[in-house]
Amino acid sequence: MSWKAVFFLLLGSLALPLATRADETAPVPQIQIDAAQTAATVSPTLYGLMTEEINYSYEGGLYGELVRNRSFKASVNGPKFWDTVGGAAMELDTNTPLNPALAVSLKLDATQASATNPAGIANGGFWGIPIRPQTAYHASFYAKAAAGFTGPLTVALVNNGDSAVLASATVSGLTGDWQKFEATLTTGSTSPSKNNRLVLTTATPGTLWLQQVSLFPPTYLDRANGNRPDLMQLLADMHPKFLRMPGGNYLEGNTIATRFNWKTTIGPVEQRPGHLDDAWGYWSTDGFGLMEYLHWCEDLRMEPLLAVYAGYALRHDYIKPGPDLTPYVQDDLDEIEYVIGSTNTVWGAQRALDGHPEPFPLHYVEVGNEDWFDRSGSYDGRFAQIYDAIKAKYPQLMIIATAKVKTRVPDVMDEHYYRSEEEMEAHAHDYDKYPRDAKTKIFVGEWATRVGSPTPNMAGALGDAAWMTGMERNSDIVLISSYAPMFVNVSDLGKGGSMQWKSDLIGYDALTSYGSPSYWAQQLFSTHHGDTVLASTATGIPTYTWQPPAKKRNGVEQPLPPVQQVPALFYDITRDTASGTLILKIVNRQATAQPVKITISGVPKIAAEATATVLQADKLDDTNTIQEPGKIAPHTETATGLGKDFTRTFPPYSITILELKPE
Ligand code: AHR
Repeated sequence: MSWKAVFFLLLGSLALPLATRADETAPVPQIQIDAAQTAATVSPTLYGLMTEEINYSYEGGLYGELVRNRSFKASVNGPKFWDTVGGAAMELDTNTPLNPALAVSLKLDATQASATNPAGIANGGFWGIPIRPQTAYHASFYAKAAAGFTGPLTVALVNNGDSAVLASATVSGLTGDWQKFEATLTTGSTSPSKNNRLVLTTATPGTLWLQQVSLFPPTYLDRANGNRPDLMQLLADMHPKFLRMPGGNYLEGNTIATRFNWKTTIGPVEQRPGHLDDAWGYWSTDGFGLMEYLHWCEDLRMEPLLAVYAGYALRHDYIKPGPDLTPYVQDDLDEIEYVIGSTNTVWGAQRALDGHPEPFPLHYVEVGNEDWFDRSGSYDGRFAQIYDAIKAKYPQLMIIATAKVKTRVPDVMDEHYYRSEEEMEAHAHDYDKYPRDAKTKIFVGEWATRVGSPTPNMAGALGDAAWMTGMERNSDIVLISSYAPMFVNVSDLGKGGSMQWKSDLIGYDALTSYGSPSYWAQQLFSTHHGDTVLASTATGIPTYTWQPPAKKRNGVEQPLPPVQQVPALFYDITRDTASGTLILKIVNRQATAQPVKITISGVPKIAAEATATVLQADKLDDTNTIQEPGKIAPHTETATGLGKDFTRTFPPYSITILELKPE
């Protein structure tokens, strides 16, 4: 069947009269599936991930580092997040730098220390230091001492409540020169807890300087400078195909100087200066830098989707296209070379030096982020310059634009949608109408149903699922998509705390983590889809009445838009060619159970039984939390009474995946 025919088939199904809200007397909706007709192919890379340094996503999140402000650079006014113990005094010292990147150190005056009153410093981590039983923690730091002091120093994990020492080690041999010290702190049979701190003390009087004080727990796949296992596992279970990196606003920064300057985020961690993530208001040590993003991709077998800096900062400063932009374009080319260049290239060789001689896979490069914010009109020129430079050197790469351009045809356009549940549902059929022959494909690079905080509730999951049926059904156009943001540290939800953006897919504190209902919706869609969209039509789809809110224009509230009838039931049907399984997804966003009649043609027979995976809640605002992480989670059951023609009732507020087996 031609694209045009498929388009009109889909359009025809939409044009059919929609029934009113489902009730006993309403006609039963019908879905007719033609398993012999392909409507579209499903992009194998449809579902990916996107995050950035927001909501303590890396530091205080995915990145394993447990010490907050390990480099003492979070504030110039003093060693923020550090305390003294035992009568010590501490100050920032810019006269005793470790190196040009970490040109400040913490001067610790422990001249009052004694055996009965050890003196030193303590760090409470990112809202606690998580301790688990029988676990080895890797502590490390750089230190130098004033004449006469050689140590020893005790490094300990201490409970804040009862001051119990949960693990400790000593190091000695400090001199007048900077040296790196390392120790393993192994816990015994303690209960998991987060109300702990790292304490570094001396029982011998002296003065010393410290820098890069670090503590790592075991990491995912035991990577040095690696990631938190529970969060990595949640992501691994989603089977993501790519990672949009490194942002978001984080790529751009409020100013050009505070952009994600990738060249300062690679190499030994103690050589990275770090930078103020002013887009989200906190310091990043850049311990989680470009190579760590790439390791993350490798560990989850996903591809990087590299967003390169395009010369625009959030506070509207921009680099003029032309000679001014040239060094930034070169930085972008160097970055791509770092990712995919052979070891014979300058930046490929640097990647090898950084421990990864093999190039990483790369198919997509995005130019900037949300450049529609740039009112200067410079994006067209900036995009063209970067596009031409990349295509000249790497013609195989697909280039993504973030705003409309006139002078080039981008391979892909990045669209962002943050919406209410109703809005998501009202737009779930948008891509059905997209021209099939358009040269530019779509990346839905940030999207979310923003209902619920800190993480979305079931209403969010239903809006997401409705939206995903639309993306999947049209994934010949929507090649790639990524929900955003992905992470939130839920430890301190007050102003200036651990969350800068509400409704984030996965929540966690120092010790535990959970997936929101939206996480489960994503996980189900990402792990259950075929490679082919089958032709289908639907009749009698129930609707509900929605009054869209009034919008403001130039601060002035506009008249209410017209009331809309919005679909209340969504579906999409794909086939997995290898197994032949037909994967039918049904989203019922209503408070009532919904019977649906399903007929399937184009296959001889459908087995009477199938696996049904169901995500369901009693109320729209039902959700998961750190206290109740598994309240909403999918379950599987065996669906019976199936065939080429069957009626099945879908529970209220539910997402169901039926794996139908042709025989
Ligand atoms: O996802 C949060 C922010 O939303 C991203 O940084 C930005 O691209 C968008 O405006």
